[in-house]
Amino acid sequence: MMFGTLRRTVRPALEQAQLLSGLRKAQIPWRHKTHIRACAAASSATFRLHEDCLELSCGGTSMRFNYVWLRDHCRSASSYNSSTNQRNLDTGSIDLTIRPERTTVEDGQLVLTWSGGHISKYSLSWLAENCYEVKKQSTEQQRILWNSDIYKNANITAAKWDKFMSCDDELKKFLQNYLLYGIAFVDDVPATVEATEAVTQRVSLIRETTYGRMWCFTSDFSRGDTAYSQLALDRHTDTSYFQEPCGIQVFHCLRHEGTGGKTLLVDGFYAAEKLRQESPENFELLTRVPIRHEYLENTDSHQNRMTGIGPVLNVYPWNNEVYLIRYNNYDRSVINTIPHDTVRRWYVAHRELTTELRRPENELWIKLTPGKVIFIDNWRVLHGRDSFTGLRQLCGCYLTRDDVLSTAHRLGL
Ligand SMILES: [Fe+2]
Repeated sequence: MMFGTLRRTVRPALEQAQLLSGLRKAQIPWRHKTHIRACAAASSATFRLHEDCLELSCGGTSMRFNYVWLRDHCRSASSYNSSTNQRNLDTGSIDLTIRPERTTVEDGQLVLTWSGGHISKYSLSWLAENCYEVKKQSTEQQRILWNSDIYKNANITAAKWDKFMSCDDELKKFLQNYLLYGIAFVDDVPATVEATEAVTQRVSLIRETTYGRMWCFTSDFSRGDTAYSQLALDRHTDTSYFQEPCGIQVFHCLRHEGTGGKTLLVDGFYAAEKLRQESPENFELLTRVPIRHEYLENTDSHQNRMTGIGPVLNVYPWNNEVYLIRYNNYDRSVINTIPHDTVRRWYVAHRELTTELRRPENELWIKLTPGKVIFIDNWRVLHGRDSFTGLRQLCGCYLTRDDVLSTAHRLGL
């Protein structure tokens, strides 16, 4: 399925999910495309010169660009290397009070002449794509927020091992699902560590951690972590104690002779948007208060002391879009960076988010069986598990986030 087709087919689902989640209309991701198209189609635009910026009106959108920004973003050969996509211009050499001596709009381009004669040209569509007024109303990543029913009703098919390993279209479909829902599956994978490693490397680079490159665990308490037991695990994100939590988590159940052990998945962004809708001040508090998570391990073979600090909800400051949730009650450390009255309000806000995350209708339970590999966006989707009996052998790894997003871009997503 090509991306254009996908956009048309998922749009009703996106609208439904965003309405359900209370996502503000301003964040509907395709909205800004209309502006960009309108601007790209316009052969002319009008402008006004202000004291420190140029105001461009194009396709019904008013955009402001500082003069120093315009000089800094000049795409002429002397200012920018279009082969390496890197800036040549020394930003430190630009006069901060610079203003153009001449300004025109010609053939769909803004043309500025600076003192000394240097000429900068910017296409109107490029300016529209990169102006703050458009960015603040658009999302960085299209997503379909889900609860259990929304995910099940979407009838998303898993990729199949043979095709996935050999066909880019299958990988692209898989990545589309992964980006939209934060989870995606590959079926029919041989139940070995080697095959699991191969299937993950089709997607991204493996991120080696203190747990190794590929890890394989049973309930043997071989590490100082509850995961290495038969106990149930409440929903959480992993490695919240890293300064940058791992981007992607991969699980493959190689063997289970016993009962229980179902995997729990919860869309953290769905819960966060519910909180934003119902209690904006609590949402805002969780984006602002820094919380420490810690991993302290002291066994014969492993000694670790790691600390990650950041708010529970991380949002882009220009559009308030959530991009990372750190939620791990096991690894959350002492709260000692905020005054007592804020502590009290933080607990109220955290409880409200916890209530959303724990709503039964938001829980997606699946039984991982040998052959089924799951990829989880660890910045978005929380995971947990039921307690279990018997021998259960699970393998997996963490993947780097930058590389999977880069693969998605390369495939046109
Ligand atoms: Fe975990």
